[in-house]
Amino acid sequence: MQRRKIAIIGGGQIGSILTLMATQKELADVVLVDLPDQVNPVKGKTLDIDHLRPHIGVDINLSATSDYQNITGADVVIVTAGIPRKPNMSREDLLDINLEIIKEVAKKIKQHSPDAFIIIATNPVDTMSYAFQRLSGFPRNQVVGLSGALDTGRFQYFIAEETGLSVKDVSCMVMGGHGPTMMPLIRTASIAGIPITNLLSPQQLANIVKRTKEAGTEIVNLLGNGSAFFSSAASIMEMIEAYLGDKKRVISSSALCRGEYGVDGYYLGVPCVIGADGMERVIEVELTEDEKMALNTTAEAVSASISQTGL
Ligand code: LAC
Repeated sequence: MQRRKIAIIGGGQIGSILTLMATQKELADVVLVDLPDQVNPVKGKTLDIDHLRPHIGVDINLSATSDYQNITGADVVIVTAGIPRKPNMSREDLLDINLEIIKEVAKKIKQHSPDAFIIIATNPVDTMSYAFQRLSGFPRNQVVGLSGALDTGRFQYFIAEETGLSVKDVSCMVMGGHGPTMMPLIRTASIAGIPITNLLSPQQLANIVKRTKEAGTEIVNLLGNGSAFFSSAASIMEMIEAYLGDKKRVISSSALCRGEYGVDGYYLGVPCVIGADGMERVIEVELTEDEKMALNTTAEAVSASISQTGL
């Protein structure tokens, strides 16, 4: 059987960590694409990872290139290209620069990998996913953005940390735009089926919600020169494995809504089923009045960002 192929556009931190993770899992061949004047360090990284393969007994092909022809036949394409934010920048501050990059990338991916499942990680992610889908004309099941997987992982971590219980047993979800208006859902959060409200006080929960919303910024401020990449790569890997393994995982992702949650025609973080057909469907659940209000706020923020693209 022919091995699967993952193409990663952007050989920065997320691209490198993803390549390492795919290698450790012997999941697929990996092609990293970067600009001609930036591709040599990426080649260095793939070669370095090649040299660790004998230590773990893994046989896959890794390559770095600036030629998009090499992404032909990819099952999945991950778009990480673009600049990350620095301290005192919001994700929205990246919009103009990253939009130009997404325009170019969408054209090339449409040309060389028209059937791949596309995961967008470039920020502001809801807006970049929308721009990519508009420009490529790909069906909605084929293009999702990394948002809820990352934010939900952080929410799970903070709940596990506060209760002293295993991350494995925490089940919860973050919906909404990938920014300060995101919605970590307390009402549906649980540990092994036990409602989280039985285990933590309202004050503890309020602190967790705040920390989850600000988690990306907390890391940007600590790193000083970029944004989170280990957890971003791990979240993307969860989405890739759900797709390649037809797992029907329920992963909150930025998806093109067509009336779900009252959102029509643009991207927003919603619970998605991810399987062999990509973003197979959005799961719509009844929200409380407070949650509906929070959803309106986050949907308005994303819609305002999207309107700035002029697309
Ligand atoms: C974060 C950035 C990558 O949330 O959006 O860490």
